Amino acid sequence: MGSRYADKVVVVTGGSSGIGRGCAREFVREGARVVVGSNQEVGGRAVERELQDVARAGGGGEAAFVYCDVTKEGDVRRLVETAVGRFGRLDCLVNNAGWHPPHKAIDDFSVEEFRSLLELNLVSVFTACKLALPHLRLVRGNIINMSSLVGRIGQHHATTYVATKGAVTAFTKALALDEAAGGVRVNSISPGNIFTPLWQEAADAAPDPERALAEGRAAQPVGRMGTAEEVGRLCVYIAAEATFTTGVDHIISGGAELGYANKSIHHRDTEAQLVES
Ligand SMILES: NC(=O)c1ccc[n+]([C@@H]2O[C@H](COP(=O)([O-])OP(=O)(O)OC[C@H]3O[C@@H](n4cnc5c(N)ncnc54)[C@H](O)[C@@H]3O)[C@@H](O)[C@H]2O)c1
Repeated sequence: MGSRYADKVVVVTGGSSGIGRGCAREFVREGARVVVGSNQEVGGRAVERELQDVARAGGGGEAAFVYCDVTKEGDVRRLVETAVGRFGRLDCLVNNAGWHPPHKAIDDFSVEEFRSLLELNLVSVFTACKLALPHLRLVRGNIINMSSLVGRIGQHHATTYVATKGAVTAFTKALALDEAAGGVRVNSISPGNIFTPLWQEAADAAPDPERALAEGRAAQPVGRMGTAEEVGRLCVYIAAEATFTTGVDHIISGGAELGYANKSIHHRDTEAQLVES
């Protein structure tokens, strides 16, 4: 337990699970007052109780849950206003809510699916930044947008997701430029493989879940996936200590993007299709 963000007020979207939950927890452990927003009422309430326990155990922070579907502007407004109304200020916004659809070729994604993912992974980030900035400017606060490593390096059968995350990273840089004069820093985090319920969902959807998990672990030279808490600790560092850092995309990946590998493994599928046709 520490006091690196004592009495600061943080909003974390998608904080009822996975990385958002880990971020909320690390902020509370450092004394922050955290408002978790999520579209999962039951999970959100459970995380609220868990965070209050962390605070009571010595973190000194506080925690609250607000139901919020980040694709609804009114919900996002209520989330921000509840945080400011209850705790008097807003120091840090973590835009974490997002989703990775199952992997498939562009032929199998509908245009409507892409539009709806853009709403969730990208437009919601714009909305929350826009609504939070009037409060963040008052205290020279900061924004952390959860992007993804694959927004930089691509990913097989994930055109829609990769496009949304590449846009989050680019948006972060543009907003950082606009807000620098007013003292608000805007950064993004690009996780590689972090083991969360979303990753488990992806493994469960694979033909061989155990193999998918093993491949997920093997993608990092460090030989394991990351944890939500490790991403949370990076968030606290960016918010509390990285005061000369803005417009930066912080990769947290266990080195997944390093070195050469067998990247033509999927050619076999294409060759098989050609033979069949
Ligand atoms: N896990 C990884 O390996 C990984 C890697 C790179 C990036 N990310 C990104 O990190 C973020 C969190 O991912 P995770 O793995 O923790 O996933 P997760 O599924 O465990 O958690 C996602 C959270 O977002 C919330 N959410 C989803 N739709 C929402 C909506 N419309 N309104 C409000 N909340 C909503 C869910 O309720 C949940 O709390 C996502 O943006 C994801 O794209 C994850």
